[in-house]
Amino acid sequence: MKEDFDNEMKLEFISKSSNEAFARAALAAFAAQLDPTIEELSDIKTAVSEAVTNCIIHGYENKQGIVKIMARLKEDEIIIEISDKGKGIENIDMAKEPLYTTKPNLERSGMGFTIMESFMDTMEIESIVGLGTKITMSKKIKPKNQEEEDNEFQMITKQ
Ligand SMILES: Nc1ncnc2c1ncn2[C@@H]1O[C@H](COP(=O)(O)OP(=O)(O)OP(=O)(O)O)[C@@H](O)[C@H]1O
Ligand SMILES: [Mg+2]
Repeated sequence: MKEDFDNEMKLEFISKSSNEAFARAALAAFAAQLDPTIEELSDIKTAVSEAVTNCIIHGYENKQGIVKIMARLKEDEIIIEISDKGKGIENIDMAKEPLYTTKPNLERSGMGFTIMESFMDTMEIESIVGLGTKITMSKKIKPKNQEEEDNEFQMITKQ
């Protein structure tokens, strides 16, 4: 049977904050196949960073664990799953509230989920206390007309 997507990648790395930049760059390179604008790409990178940081500092609380990412392209959409097998979230509704954080002393602002929700089209949280957390996000990349493409080209060449 033919699968229900056009492309797929999987990534696994240990929960070190130095891998955040790696995850962002890898996802950006994969998403580039959909020909996103610089802004769309930057939204995806920001959302990925927030989710990966959460796995590292909340899921594993800086102990060593594995962060997994799966991304799929389907037509003009990218679907990204980011998961850990860490401590899990007790109250998902509360965790999604802007400014809610369980680590206020670590200079956390409690805006991670709000950022993921606003930068992506959809964001879902599945979590079981003691077993881990999975975030699923998706974003449609808008088809470009010629004028936008020309502007984008000018932006890139001017940099
Ligand atoms: N992967 C995870 N595992 C366990 N708990 C999580 C995970 N991700 C988020 N949480 C919980 O949800 C809360 C809200 O997350 P959110 O990313 O919105 O804010 P934050 O990480 O506390 O602050 P910020 O992202 O602004 O630095 C966290 O404080 C934490 O309690
Ligand atoms: Mg966060």
